[in-house]
Amino acid sequence: MSDETKPVPAATFKVTIDNITIDVAPGTTVLNAARQIGGDVTPPAMCYYSKLQGSGGKCRTCLVEVAAGSTADPRPMPKLVASCRTTVMDGMVVKNITSDKVKDARAGVVEFLLLNHPLDCPVCDQAGECHLQDLGYNHGKEGTRYEFKRRTFEKEDIGPYIQLHMTRCILCYRCTYVADQLTNKRSHGILDRGEHAEISTYISKAIDNDFSGNMIDVCPVGALTDKTFRFKNRVWFTKPMDAHRNCETPGCCGKTTLWLRGEEVFRVTARKDEWGEVQSYDGKPGWICNTCRFDKKKTTDWIVDGLTSINRHSVISQGKYPGLVMPKETITEVMGGRAPRLLMNIHDESEVNKPNVHLSELNGPADSTVFD
Ligand code: SF4
Ligand code: FES
Repeated sequence: MSDETKPVPAATFKVTIDNITIDVAPGTTVLNAARQIGGDVTPPAMCYYSKLQGSGGKCRTCLVEVAAGSTADPRPMPKLVASCRTTVMDGMVVKNITSDKVKDARAGVVEFLLLNHPLDCPVCDQAGECHLQDLGYNHGKEGTRYEFKRRTFEKEDIGPYIQLHMTRCILCYRCTYVADQLTNKRSHGILDRGEHAEISTYISKAIDNDFSGNMIDVCPVGALTDKTFRFKNRVWFTKPMDAHRNCETPGCCGKTTLWLRGEEVFRVTARKDEWGEVQSYDGKPGWICNTCRFDKKKTTDWIVDGLTSINRHSVISQGKYPGLVMPKETITEVMGGRAPRLLMNIHDESEVNKPNVHLSELNGPADSTVFD
């Protein structure tokens, strides 16, 4: 066949996901094609992170059914495939939420992920922004069939800024990719295999690199949390605001989200996109340095850009809807015109709301001994 008669490869591939057809560039994964459609069509992803090379293929939460492989070979794929690692073919037909097999398999994956994960959401700092919590609610089943003891680990101190709770880790490997690709000296990794696999620093070496805090942002669960924020507040009581500063650390974008309570900055994180990943600026991921994250805890350190928009389905958005119409107060009516008698304002009593007490600057969790 001469060069002129050879078929020209299509510039885009047509893929149909849950009955919605779009054109995507060749080489796009099924997951990223679904993200271009958005909404419920997008499979959840616990280990894939578009800004981290090599991520994906570990957790199996993104499984989808391929009902037709391509126009050239329309046979269905025999098994469910990981959408984060499967590239689209022209004419591929994919089923995500329209497949009962997928729903069943995903419920099984949630059950597996929760075999060893403690159900300690009420005391976990990640509650309210935990991807596993959302996955459990959206795709899991009630209860578990597991009857054995859950895995436990020796406690390990990995430095002054990051708290490691190995029991909550789902071994997604994202934090090791951050350490590999963002910092120049990875000092932690996954030790051992199978049941015994764990994140460790080998010699309990502190992770003191300038960009190590980004591991907290990529961790989908509460295995890596911010020690400077731990137990100081529930995330849904804080108000997220976008802010920036002219940071001079090379590689830091200086664009952050401040998590405020009143005028106090309780936590600083990178800004997240709709998939829970750090936002990109000019095609580059917006990672932030540890100075911005851990040392700049005053509003005066920042130029505030405005309210962070939060998905209305997130618990963080509770009570923060613009234009909210409050229901009519009926207590006085029910009590025959009498006003309810409030015995004590607990915040006045505990002095928690005293403006001179900066909770975010206390070294440990705020408790009764701090407010003596
Ligand atoms: S600590 Fe978090 S980010 Fe690291 S492997 Fe475990 S779950 Fe993933
Ligand atoms: S997101 Fe695809 S396997 Fe984890």
